[in-house]
Amino acid sequence: MSTPLKIIREKLKITQTELAALMNTTQATISRMEAGQWEPNASQVQAVLEKSNSLGIDLSIDDFVLTNHSTQTTNGSYKDISGELPFNHRHLLGIQNLSANDINFILDLSNNYAERNRTADRKLSLLTGKTVINLFFEESTRTRTSFELAGKRLGADVINISVASSSIKKGETVIDTAVTLNAMHADALVVRHPHAGAVQLLSEKVNCSVINAGDGSHEHPTQALLDALTISRRKGSLQGLLVALCGDVAHSRVARSNIYLLQTMGARIRIIAPPTLIPAGVERLGVEVFHDMNAGLADCDIVMMLRLQRERMKGSFVPSVHEYFHFYGLDYEKLKHAKSDALIMHPGPMNRGVEIDSEVADDFDRSVIHEQVEMGVAVRMACLDILTRTKNRNVL
Ligand code: NCD
Repeated sequence: MSTPLKIIREKLKITQTELAALMNTTQATISRMEAGQWEPNASQVQAVLEKSNSLGIDLSIDDFVLTNHSTQTTNGSYKDISGELPFNHRHLLGIQNLSANDINFILDLSNNYAERNRTADRKLSLLTGKTVINLFFEESTRTRTSFELAGKRLGADVINISVASSSIKKGETVIDTAVTLNAMHADALVVRHPHAGAVQLLSEKVNCSVINAGDGSHEHPTQALLDALTISRRKGSLQGLLVALCGDVAHSRVARSNIYLLQTMGARIRIIAPPTLIPAGVERLGVEVFHDMNAGLADCDIVMMLRLQRERMKGSFVPSVHEYFHFYGLDYEKLKHAKSDALIMHPGPMNRGVEIDSEVADDFDRSVIHEQVEMGVAVRMACLDILTRTKNRNVL
């Protein structure tokens, strides 16, 4: 099938790679646009029009419009022309069941939102009339705020419910709470819960989309997606990168989701932690395990630090915080062993002087910790966008 962009590219006599450079995107996105699954945004259209103008080729904005399909334009994101959505999941419960295509699809859309969020024109009306409920059974500041902002930027009504003010305290079960909210016709429930598996259970009882905002030590899919977006914007791609996940991997849902995602996208993972903080059987996930920071960090492209998750520890896992910092805290001495352009990442909240030295955390040449927070809003916009618009379809 010849779609408008394909015809345009043939007129311009350029390759997909050249068009990707011109449109400031990836070749994968160009393929998707040429397959009719995605639309270029206004600045990309403008770039192509300028190029055609400079080559003396007659093109207008109308040449970008599909005429032979019934399409529903989705405000600069994707177009479903075949009846098949590129993302076939009703919920986002984890990374484990996502394919590389699913991940690329979310990341590409997130990247569009990340660019849009940097302009003054960042408030959209795509989800006007939709209701997003943040249901948090565990404390959170950044993740809850990030989802709230994401929903509001898309025009949705967003409501926050935290356990402290909920009926759970009055004896209602998690499921009853979710079913009650579902009966109020929520379009998406964003749920954080201290127990692994609780979000999945809840998703089976409601007919709106459910996004897992962290369940116990299990998964935290939007965190892994925002990490991937931050990395791929800085490094161009995830393929072939060597990524070190350092610290309390045993209790970390961030680590688990990152292992699934980064491996699916072709990165290699090292885990660096004391034996007490490494989950049993982790080698089966295909990661390399190190107990020594200097050896583990050698030649790494990405150094991702994790917090000691004391709220999930039953008993004592490290002799003392002082000793932990000495052996496992990221300082300039240890960082020397990673590649000279290695990025420093942390999902937050950080414990300065425990898993990371304050100066290293604030080193704006190396640390992308603030960019992770920025990308979090874009990724959550993409997830809300995709899921609230797929929810009425018969997809799994
Ligand atoms: C992480 C979490 O809650 O799992 N933080 C976050 O989402 N910003 C990591 C952590 O709490 O250490």
